[in-house]
Amino acid sequence: MITIAEQLPEDIGAIDRILDKAFGPAREDKTSYAYRLGIQPTDDLSFVARDEDGIVGTLRFWPVYIGNDAISALLLGPLGVAPKRQNAGIGKALMNHGHRAAKKLGHSAVLLVGDRDYYKNFGYSSASAHAIIMPGEGPSRLLCRELTPGALDGVNGTIMRADAVHVISSRQDRA
Ligand SMILES: CC(C)(COP(=O)(O)OP(=O)(O)OC[C@H]1O[C@@H](n2cnc3c(N)ncnc32)[C@H](O)[C@@H]1OP(=O)(O)O)[C@@H](O)C(=O)NCCC(=O)NCCS
Repeated sequence: MITIAEQLPEDIGAIDRILDKAFGPAREDKTSYAYRLGIQPTDDLSFVARDEDGIVGTLRFWPVYIGNDAISALLLGPLGVAPKRQNAGIGKALMNHGHRAAKKLGHSAVLLVGDRDYYKNFGYSSASAHAIIMPGEGPSRLLCRELTPGALDGVNGTIMRADAVHVISSRQDRA
């Protein structure tokens, strides 16, 4: 039986092994990792799927900001399922659990880089419709979804790392 639970510190090794198998060892070269490396995942939004043998899936969310107004959003991913357990509903269970939890915690919008054909099933559509941009990533795989209706109305611009916004504020403070 599959259960979805909060990730524990000791789960990291198993998670990395699943992601290496699912995405390949060069996964950290992907554009979206530039928003994760050196940044802590968003509190209370790191999940694993477990069965009797251990961890079989992982999903985390990360803080980002969008545009000149630094609108807060979540960056979803990576979502990964152990190759032997794919296509059995584990990804779907993680996605639904993650969205419910994110909404409950008051987050209003989620971005991700991924296959539209998979993520459209969870309400994702092209972020380019909002003119939301991730430097280095083409528009076809950059997707977004509102958790609160209207949360992305009028939101546009470049996605920024969570720590970049701190730098901008400091500059303003000094000006
Ligand atoms: C993508 C992934 C997270 C999905 O999780 P999963 O538990 O295998 O998938 P689910 O059981 O929730 O859903 C299965 C359905 O999604 C479809 N699907 C799986 N990967 C897909 C993809 N990349 N694009 C489109 N559809 C996809 C399957 O064909 C299946 O369709 P069906 O229900 O009509 O038969 C998982 O397969 C994985 O880790 N893959 C390796 C990484 C990868 O390829 N990522 C690409 C997306 S960014």
